[in-house]
Amino acid sequence: MYVLGIETSCDETAASVVKDGNLVLSNIFSSSLNFHKRYGGIVPEIAFRMQLETITQVTEEAIVKSGVKLNKIGLISVTDGPGLFGSLVTGLSYAKASSLGLGIPILGVNHLYSHIFASFLNKNVCKFPFVALLVSGGHTVLFYVRSFGQIEALGSTLDDACGEAFDKVAKILRLGYPGGPLIEKISKRGNFKKIKFACSNTQKLLDFSFSGIKTGVLYYVKDLVAKRKKNLKPTQTCDIAASFQKSVFDALIYKSILACKIKKAKQLVVGGGVAANNVLREGLRKSSELKGIDCIFPEKAFCADNAAMVAGLGYHLFSRGYKSGLDLDVEV
Ligand code: KG4
Ligand code: ZN
Repeated sequence: MYVLGIETSCDETAASVVKDGNLVLSNIFSSSLNFHKRYGGIVPEIAFRMQLETITQVTEEAIVKSGVKLNKIGLISVTDGPGLFGSLVTGLSYAKASSLGLGIPILGVNHLYSHIFASFLNKNVCKFPFVALLVSGGHTVLFYVRSFGQIEALGSTLDDACGEAFDKVAKILRLGYPGGPLIEKISKRGNFKKIKFACSNTQKLLDFSFSGIKTGVLYYVKDLVAKRKKNLKPTQTCDIAASFQKSVFDALIYKSILACKIKKAKQLVVGGGVAANNVLREGLRKSSELKGIDCIFPEKAFCADNAAMVAGLGYHLFSRGYKSGLDLDVEV
């Protein structure tokens, strides 16, 4: 079955056609990121206005590029939350109107859960049950996944999301937005052993906390700048970035492996924007291998927000009897 996926939970307007929940035939997106950069973060009003302007074109392009005729599409799978209210309403309204106009069933899909299953696009290696680590700009969660519809949160961040911490530290270091890729890039030139930053402990072992380490970086930079009476040297910036990245990833790796141990899981699935980071990919792969755990990442194109993952999960849920009606509403 061919599924049209639509994703508009944050700054992206994305549409995709996926065959049988697996084979991605098209994956189109338009991002308003450049319009947000000067504000150092996403401005919801800008995001949804751009989505209103681009959604028709993006969806049409996804259908044309897939080579699938409209009357062959068996389901419209759309993100219904969590995300920005106006952005979600835009995608959902477009999907509902298309469903009504074309007589195609519609299914609302959870954004976080679709990130988990992004790893299985274009490959078919999903072995339930497994542990999933979701690391994005808005969320950091460890899940225990029994099936496509049975997903339990084992722990999550108590404050900042992992990607959010990268974005904030990049701002402190005056690198720009979004911070993740910029920190990864300059960390290659830094010495991660130079400074000892640490993530705060959490009462529950599988929770995370990143706001303390971000504040640690802030005070470290303030002190250094005050002592030098001028801005940081490039080598200092690189060392801070590398040390911060290392500590955050140590926490992610330690807790992910611990979750696998507790749940006796043999597969660890990673998803979300931060999963594009090569240092994290390498670190998780090595640690998993040592414990006999199979660690699976999405292709880089499916780490950040995309509609292929929405179409993919939609197919699997729909085939198992999940349905939505036109009264489908957003779940912020
Ligand atoms: O999943 P995503 O595209 O959007 C949300 O659903 O939040 O994640 C975006 C986040 C941003 O915070 C960005 O800085 C981070 O993912 N990110 C990275 C990398 N690429 C994107 N963080 C670390 N290293 C990267 N290479
Ligand atoms: Zn996301």
